[in-house]
Amino acid sequence: MRKKVAIVGAGNVGATLALFVVNSGIADVILFDIVEGMPQGKALDILQNTAVLGVKSRIFGTNNLEDLAGADMVVITAGLARKPGMRRKDLLMANAEIVGGIVDKIAPQCPNAFYIVVTNPMDVMAYVTLAKAGISRQRVIGMGGILDSSRFKTFISLELGVSPKDIETLVLGGHGLYMVPLVRFTTVKGIPLSKWLSKEKIEALVNRTREGGAEIVALLKTGSAYYAPAQSTFEMVKAIILDEKRILPCSAYLDGEYGVKDVFNGVPVVLGKQGIEKIIELELTEEERLAFENSTEEVRGMIQILKEEGKI
Ligand code: NAI
Ligand code: 2OP
Repeated sequence: MRKKVAIVGAGNVGATLALFVVNSGIADVILFDIVEGMPQGKALDILQNTAVLGVKSRIFGTNNLEDLAGADMVVITAGLARKPGMRRKDLLMANAEIVGGIVDKIAPQCPNAFYIVVTNPMDVMAYVTLAKAGISRQRVIGMGGILDSSRFKTFISLELGVSPKDIETLVLGGHGLYMVPLVRFTTVKGIPLSKWLSKEKIEALVNRTREGGAEIVALLKTGSAYYAPAQSTFEMVKAIILDEKRILPCSAYLDGEYGVKDVFNGVPVVLGKQGIEKIIELELTEEERLAFENSTEEVRGMIQILKEEGKI
């Protein structure tokens, strides 16, 4: 039986992801949005593209959440982007309401679904999703680390003039300013990054990675990045559907791992047909551990605000 991926939010990330999933042929897609006609129009366009490519995936667009019933996977990209004059807390509240409302309605209809959460602040929205869906923590996964790692790889590759394929790296922590690019685990063809670049240069690349999303927002002016985010999300969809057992940095619910509990944060995980099949615990140095804890605290603070406001 073909797998069914429901994508909630047919904006830039959602529609691009829909294109990637359909073009890959690994699953059928249901594209949902609240804007009337928009998911239907984008779905029809993508469907016509399958005729160009000759792939067998199907896609349809809808404004009716009931059409998502029975989905094997739900990818949440619905939400607002920050607008001028909007406080971070306002965005947090608005998106928690959107994501929480969606999961409340979808969870009973999709009892076996895996959830991949993209909407920002992503680690917090993953927490909202898990709380609302009331399912095993293996089945709710946040997307951030793959994107952040790909940005770090890109900047290293540009700096050294070498292919990103020969670069290995890992970015831990929440998808925010306190993310933790792990220089110690970054190698170019197996050779530590510190042998290739000076400390100052590496620090500049780490900072550019932290600001990677903001750099694109400043250029685009009307939105945020979506090609690399959609591709990063697709890697997760594929790892689960094809049971690839990939080791990828994803946001996972931590229950004692890395010394923290009851919070989502970015860690390396094994992704396969059971969702998060394993959380890999790295031995961190004191400096890395403190950076990870700072990042955890940032996420925890936002979860606390939502709890105080009665959103979860
Ligand atoms: P977008 O504005 O292009 O699309 C968002 C879509 O959500 C819109 O089409 C809107 O109509 C829809 N929407 C709003 N409320 C809805 C509801 N209740 N039900 C269904 N759909 C609803 O935004 P974009 O660029 O696609 O980004 C989506 C989210 O993903 C944002 O929160 C953004 O910050 C986040 N993001 C996260 C990344 C990550 O690494 N975790 C990377 C890129 C984006
Ligand atoms: C990014 O990092 C907006 O979270 C999004 O590009």
